[in-house]
Amino acid sequence: EMKDNTLIVVFGASGDLAKKKTFPALFALFRQGFLPTDAKIVGYARTKMETADFHSRAVSYIQNPDNDEAITAYDDGAAYDVLNEHLEGIEAKYSMKERNRLFYFALPPDVFVPVAKNLKEHCYAENGVNRIIVEKPFGKDLDSARELLRSLKQYWSEEETYRIDHYLGKEMVKNLLVLRFANTALAAGWDKNSISNVQITFKEPFGTEGRGGYFDSSGIIRDILQNHLLQVLSILAMERPVSFSAEDIRDEKVKVLRSIPPITQEDTLLGQYVAANGKPGYLDDDTVPRGSVCPTFAATTLWIHNPRWEGVPFILKAGKALNEAKVEVRVQFKDITQGIFKDITRNELVFRIQPSEAVYLKIVAKSPGLQTQAIATEMDLTYNRRFADAKIPEAYEALILDVLQGDHSNFVRHDELDVAWKIFTPILHWIDGKSGERPKPISYPYGSRGPAELNTFVERYGYHRSPSR
Ligand code: BG6
Repeated sequence: EMKDNTLIVVFGASGDLAKKKTFPALFALFRQGFLPTDAKIVGYARTKMETADFHSRAVSYIQNPDNDEAITAYDDGAAYDVLNEHLEGIEAKYSMKERNRLFYFALPPDVFVPVAKNLKEHCYAENGVNRIIVEKPFGKDLDSARELLRSLKQYWSEEETYRIDHYLGKEMVKNLLVLRFANTALAAGWDKNSISNVQITFKEPFGTEGRGGYFDSSGIIRDILQNHLLQVLSILAMERPVSFSAEDIRDEKVKVLRSIPPITQEDTLLGQYVAANGKPGYLDDDTVPRGSVCPTFAATTLWIHNPRWEGVPFILKAGKALNEAKVEVRVQFKDITQGIFKDITRNELVFRIQPSEAVYLKIVAKSPGLQTQAIATEMDLTYNRRFADAKIPEAYEALILDVLQGDHSNFVRHDELDVAWKIFTPILHWIDGKSGERPKPISYPYGSRGPAELNTFVERYGYHRSPSR
C-alpha cells in the first residue's frame, strides 16, 4: 500500500479543479495526519503557476524553473523524461526506497490518453505501486467511452485506475449504504409494495458563469445525471451486496443498472435558464455559443425492471441557476389504505446530501394533547444537531484517502461506466441532434424552481405534493 515513499503528481495543477478541490483536499489530509508521512506533492501544468498560491494549498510544491520550457506539453515524451528525472531526484533526496507514485489527472479529457501513455512509458516506477486518478467526463456517449476505456487500458490496468465520481465521496451518499443495509426498519418496505416514487434532485443557485465552453459541449445530463445522480440511484436501488468489498458492492450496482432500459423522450423534460432578477441568461454568457439549445435543466424518469422495483418511477432532476443550493433524495411512500384516516400526507424519507446533511422521515402522529388529531411531523436526524462535533470531510478528501489505501469501493468500475452510458446515450444523441433537429429546451427564469412544467411532470409519476419544509 501507499503508506510510505509516495509521490503524488497532480496534472493540471494550475486548473480550476486542482485549485478548488485537489490541493485543499491534500492539505486537509495532511493536516489530519492521513497522508503518508513522507509524501511529496508535485504539480505539473502547462500554465506557469503562482508559487505562493500553490504553497498555501499544497503540502509542498516542487518546481524546477530551469525546465519550465520542457514541461509545457502533455504529449511530448521528452517532457515526461524531465518529469521522471525530477521525481527520481526527489526519491533520491529523501531516500525513498519503494517509489510509490500516484498520478492525479485534473485534466480535460482530450489529453487523458497522451498523458496516460507518456506516464506509463516514461514515469512508471518499477519497484513500487503506481496509480492514476481520472476525472470525468469519461467520454461523451457509449462509443466514445468505450474507446477511451480501451485506450487507457493499454497502459493502466483496472486495478491501477481510479475513476472519480466525487458524489461517491460525500458523507450522506456513503451513509446510504449503511442506512439501507444496517437497519431492518428501513430494509423492510424498501420496494414497490410500499414506495410510490423516488426523486433525486440536484439544484444549484448559479449558472455557468464563464464555464460555458465546457458546459455547452456537455449539458446538464452529462454533467450531473449520467454520473452523480445515477450513482446515487444505484446505491438506493441495488440489492444487498455479499460484503462491503469493492467488487461485491460494484457487482450489485452494475446489476441494478443493467435492469434499467435507456431513458425516453417522453420521460424527459429539458430546460434552459433565461435572464431574470438581474441575473444573465445562459445565452448571455459570452463563453456560450450563440443560440445554443443546450439544456441547463433536466428531469427524467428511470424504470428498474426487477421484482423489487417494477413500476416505481425514479425521477432524476438537475438544474443550474435555480432558487437554491440543494441535493436530496426524496422517497415517497404510498398512501395508507383509506379507512379511519382521511386526507393525511404520505410518509416521505428524505436524505439531504447537501447543504447540512440530514435524514428525516415525514410521519403522521397524534397531536399532543387531549384531542385525537393526526398531524404531519418529522423524525429528524439533522447532523449538525445530532453529531454536532463531527467534522464532515470533503468528498475529495475521502476519495484521495481511498486511493492511497487501495480501496476501489467508491470509484467507478469500467462496466458501471459502460452501463451508465447505455442508459443515457439515446437521449443524449437526440438532444445532440443526431436523429434530426435538436429539441428546444423550455425557458425558466434564473433563480426559479425550474420550468413551470415540472410540477405536472412529477405528478404524472405519482408524486403527491405535501407541505414541505
Ligand atoms: C461537477 C460539475 O461534477 O459537480 C459541476 O461538473 C457542478 O457543474 C459540481 O457544479 C457540483 O458538485 P458539488 O460537490 O458542489 O455538488
